[in-house]
Amino acid sequence: MLAIRLIAEPERADVLVLPVRPAEQAVGDNTDAEPVPTAVAPPDGTAEEAAALAPVARLSGRAGEIRTQLRPGRTPGRLLLLGVGDGGEASWRSAGAALARSAADETHVTIMLPADVTPAAVRGLTEGLLLASYRFRMTDAGTAPALSEVDLLLADPAAHETTIATARTTAAMTHLARDLTNTPSSVKNPEWFADQVASAAADLPDLRLRVRGPAELAAEGFGGILAVGGGSASGPRLVELDWHPADARTHVVLIGKGITFDTGGISIKPVPAMKLMRKDMAGAAAVVAATLGAAALRLPVRVTTLAPLAENMVSGSAFRPGDVIRHYGGTTSETTNSDAEGRLVLADALAYAVQQLAPDLLLDLATLTGANAVALGKRTAALYTENDQLAADVLAAAEAAGEAAWRMPLHTDYVEYLGSEIADLYSAPTQGAGSVLAALYLREFTGELRDRWLHLDMSAPSWADGDQAEVSRGATGWGVRSLLRWLASVN
Ligand code: BES
Ligand code: MN
Ligand code: ZN
Repeated sequence: MLAIRLIAEPERADVLVLPVRPAEQAVGDNTDAEPVPTAVAPPDGTAEEAAALAPVARLSGRAGEIRTQLRPGRTPGRLLLLGVGDGGEASWRSAGAALARSAADETHVTIMLPADVTPAAVRGLTEGLLLASYRFRMTDAGTAPALSEVDLLLADPAAHETTIATARTTAAMTHLARDLTNTPSSVKNPEWFADQVASAAADLPDLRLRVRGPAELAAEGFGGILAVGGGSASGPRLVELDWHPADARTHVVLIGKGITFDTGGISIKPVPAMKLMRKDMAGAAAVVAATLGAAALRLPVRVTTLAPLAENMVSGSAFRPGDVIRHYGGTTSETTNSDAEGRLVLADALAYAVQQLAPDLLLDLATLTGANAVALGKRTAALYTENDQLAADVLAAAEAAGEAAWRMPLHTDYVEYLGSEIADLYSAPTQGAGSVLAALYLREFTGELRDRWLHLDMSAPSWADGDQAEVSRGATGWGVRSLLRWLASVN
């Protein structure tokens, strides 16, 4: 990962970055940028040069805007003017991301931070730099170039060390979730995913991990996970990871959908819809990474994470449309469409959480429906809960973290569509509002925790078709940042 250091004295001045912002007297679109007063005086007349350059370079100062000034024969040899907009966390995050992308062929840059720099600005900048430097490749041909060292120059480095540490952990865990999600399904079967969790958890003290295999799942009645995983040569797993600090007053259970590949099963998906289905474990990756992050940051909240892992395949042992499945705890589902598999594994995990763990709050993240993107587009998760406070808290955390979510309705009128003649529930109603119906189905398994449960359908934002600010093309790690912010506020 890109190395970021806080320093009070410039050490190397090969490439110097000076922040600029919209000038105070700017009018309409006709804005000029002005240099932001920095904590440490910029070297060798660069401040004056930046002030003179800003209008000539037609800078507006908006976050993420960049101009490079070459200074042959002088030091620094390159001066970068970086727009930081209003100087808030989101602006600095965009600025950091833009810098990481435009300076990808530099090895080292020094950024002069503002005299009045806030922890939020440092966090935004650091996360933007780190998240946009993410690369995933499987080749022996070497990795794509990326900025490798950044020095942040400010008056009091010690005052910002914890902020940087939090940002580093947040980015590292987001990178872990992206790596897990980007990994091809030929590599990532349920056992592999569980092994990855085990090795990541082994690096951190005080985490407890239990992995159930097919025999234990059968003995305890996890019929949804077993049915969905039944068609694969790689058997299903249930990961249970527990961070339980002594000072915790609140117990949160996080559940993540972990379908390591979704063919649709016997109700097989058409070619275009199946193309990216290695990402169907992005929910599991996000909750695992957030829990590891909570442990790394030693957040004072108990977090138990459940990741039901299965590969939804087509074979002679696959479950069929019309099969009736008995979930953990005994509720039965009639499964008319084997492509509605995510909710079947989540149902087991929800019922187990409610009956055996009885937490204070219950959250699940799942790449659950294509309808998420139909309703909200490709960058926004659908959020469901009956609990207004919980909705407000999670939405606020997501907003602060820079991840988009939108609250959706749990329409009571639609519950009737979940009725089956032969089982307790019908798993795949097709009356429209697919994301809402999936949420209503999950709610049936929340028992006494019904009003302390929150569901995020993050099918759409789990993947990016191209680079978007701090999000790089491919798996986004959506949810890790929001969950870590929210967990830090619980207790
Ligand atoms: N994994 C898919 C949902 C999905 C679609 C995630 C596109 C990411 C991108 C899920 O298992 C699924 O197939 N859902 C069906 C449900 C339907 C059969 C009721 C869907 O959305 O079509
Ligand atoms: Mn499916
Ligand atoms: Zn799926």
